[in-house]
Amino acid sequence: MPAKNAFYAQSGGVTAVINASACGVIETARAHRGKIGKVYAGRNGIIGALREDLIDTSKETKAAIHGLLSTPAGAFGSCRHKLKDPRENRAEYERLIEVFKAHNIGYFFYNGGGDSADTCLKVSRLSESMGYPLQAIHIPKTIDNDLPLTDTCPGFGSVAKYVAISTREAALDVASMCATSTRVFILEVMGRHAGWIAAAAGLAAEQEGDAPHIILFPEVAFDRKRFLARVQRTVKRHGYCVIVASEGTHDADGRFLSESGLTDAFGHSQLGGLAPTLADMVKSELGYKYHWAVADYLQRSARHIASQTDVDQAYAVGKAAVEFALQGRNAVMPAIQRGKGKRYSWHIGEAPLQDVANREKKMPRDFITRDGFAITEKARDYLAPLIVGEAYPQYRNGLPIYTRLKLVAVPRKLKTAFKV
Ligand code: F6P
Repeated sequence: MPAKNAFYAQSGGVTAVINASACGVIETARAHRGKIGKVYAGRNGIIGALREDLIDTSKETKAAIHGLLSTPAGAFGSCRHKLKDPRENRAEYERLIEVFKAHNIGYFFYNGGGDSADTCLKVSRLSESMGYPLQAIHIPKTIDNDLPLTDTCPGFGSVAKYVAISTREAALDVASMCATSTRVFILEVMGRHAGWIAAAAGLAAEQEGDAPHIILFPEVAFDRKRFLARVQRTVKRHGYCVIVASEGTHDADGRFLSESGLTDAFGHSQLGGLAPTLADMVKSELGYKYHWAVADYLQRSARHIASQTDVDQAYAVGKAAVEFALQGRNAVMPAIQRGKGKRYSWHIGEAPLQDVANREKKMPRDFITRDGFAITEKARDYLAPLIVGEAYPQYRNGLPIYTRLKLVAVPRKLKTAFKV
């Protein structure tokens, strides 16, 4: 009986280090060749499995796979496709099992956020009820840092570093010109329901008066009057004001200030455009000259300034997922656990998927100052180690060298096509 193959897929918004997790999975599986056959990756995530569009990672060289460690975004393609509840759409689950059976797949590694943890759990339960043995392991990833039971989520540390650095650098720019020119700079960052990314900008400030002067969190209802008063006070005191705003900032009725009107397959509103809204407010009420920036995809793809801690953790969860599978685990997620000592340390533990799926971890109230505009020392202590270390990629001709995979397709075995 040949060793079972593994299926690996990337899911949801990609990050600067999700490929480091892929690297951890593939390198570890290759080190256990007798026990795990090949690793097949889904082209564009789970959609690849449904369409029987699998990528044979064994066709990639050792160097190419290792290059994933320093290559941002999703090398195999990702997607936002939510598998419905099996009671509503059992056909999708049956199709997955059909594809897995056809390709002798016994391990399912799903690399994503909270929604993907839910899918992974459902796949595990359904395969069991259909009598097809499959070990489903979820690999945590999300720049939003909102998964429970893990101290942090791979992808977040690198965004945090990018945002903290960009805030500090842009603040120096504004400070140089504020006597005669721009007074207000607004940086909009991601984070739909949780303010972890905006909070990380707070690391840029070292002493009283340093930027960012105002952080807007989704955890604190936006109050226009209080906001404008704080901007004015800051400009009067320091000559300029740097604001970092989470895209998830909303008013007391829960209405996002930046809703575009579009939603994705998970039912999430597409956000973006908060910075110009705030800038308009500042200009019309206070008359200050402003600049704004939306960090958008720049923040989550910025592998050139990734956090070494984040890269190490992303690799470690991929590696641990394979080790868990080899130990016979099912429906679990490798979780990053922080050591108790004063000096930052971490190790990989295990979290049951039923406690991870569909739960969002927001910023605790004691991580935000009482006025709602800054982070506390407690938040700083939590965040600071996550951005430590620089994992620079190699450069050629002034540009980073990123891996390009061959992405060779596994020959199809099924006669039927499946419409997604
Ligand atoms: O994956 C999380 C996230 O990065 C959010 O912070 C952001 O709102 C969203 O993805 C953007 O997703 P998309 O690229 O699908 O528009």
